[in-house]
Amino acid sequence: MLAVVLVGGFGTRLRPLTLSKPKQMLPVGQVTMLERVVAKLAAAGVTQVILSLGYQPDAFLEEFPDGMCAGVNMHYAVEPEPLDTAGAIRFAANHAGITERFFAVNGDVLTDLDLAGLWAAHESFGGEATLALTPVEDPSRYGVVPIDSAGRVEAFIEKPPAGTAPSNWINAGTYVLEPSIFDRIPANGRVSIERETFPAIVADKALYGMHSDAYWIDAGTPEAYLQAHLDLIDGVRGAPEECVDSSATVHSDAVVSRSMIGPGVHIEAGAQVVDSVVMSNCRVGAGAQISRSILGGGCSVGESSSLSDLSIVGFDQDLGAGTVSVGGRFPSPETW
Ligand code: GDD
Ligand code: MG
Repeated sequence: MLAVVLVGGFGTRLRPLTLSKPKQMLPVGQVTMLERVVAKLAAAGVTQVILSLGYQPDAFLEEFPDGMCAGVNMHYAVEPEPLDTAGAIRFAANHAGITERFFAVNGDVLTDLDLAGLWAAHESFGGEATLALTPVEDPSRYGVVPIDSAGRVEAFIEKPPAGTAPSNWINAGTYVLEPSIFDRIPANGRVSIERETFPAIVADKALYGMHSDAYWIDAGTPEAYLQAHLDLIDGVRGAPEECVDSSATVHSDAVVSRSMIGPGVHIEAGAQVVDSVVMSNCRVGAGAQISRSILGGGCSVGESSSLSDLSIVGFDQDLGAGTVSVGGRFPSPETW
């Protein structure tokens, strides 16, 4: 089985972290986000992944120089300009010569959903595409997808205004597609699968959806990225994962609780790191308090600083002693 994985977006909601690295190259626990997505596909029997690259493609090539990730061979398709989701799938599939049924997934979705079950559901529906659907409380930042009792999609409404969604079941960013879908996607320029291709297939009554209650999160916002870590640490997805790297040094007077601590991190005396992500080689100075915040790799937080409420420190930033931040960004958005 083949899978196209979309990883070419700018990751704007995770800036300033994504100014330095594409979103899918950020760590989730001890491995990259991409590795989790590919491992999930591999477990379902996918033997080749076509990476649909756009923003900072070299980061992927450097991380996986032999083209192998989670034991799966990856084909790199670098688009010449951002083609949006359908344009990117068409470009990548064409680049890799796909002529058979395939998976396509958003590269920022972490899930335990049953991919083999989705493939089987697609075969029994007999449509042109089948989407996994997951329930969320606020559907307004997603594609909303009501289906009828036979599983046929009635409408595909991308990011409806708050309070107007006809359903709480949303597009889980995980599809089985027939190659005939390429005939619907113009060869040049940007095409959105959510706003153009799926609504066109709905009009032809050939789009199907499969409900799933399995664990699912789109890790593309600061809050969700942090939550993805807390879920691993808390064991929401099975056995809790160890998220403190063995090469990190945590002073005996420091407190680390419910946090991801990457390789080579130093946490000094009296510091407290709670419900946070601290990427590789950061320094957390003596007495600093980090709560519900994300520190990009190589950064330094000065003594007695206080960072809380989804503060985000970009890669290699140096925060002076006594810095106080409630939901702040370093560097600040004016410089992006
Ligand atoms: N190659 C390429 N080119 N990839 C792209 C492009 C592009 O122009 N634009 C976005 N991507 C990639 C992103 O890197 C990401 O992995 C995926 O496509 C989806 O883009 P997001 O920016 O994360 O979309 P979203 O989260 O707002 O919404 C999408 O995902 C939701 C579920 O997670 C939509 O598919 C929604 O309908 C869906 O509910
Ligand atoms: Mg997303």
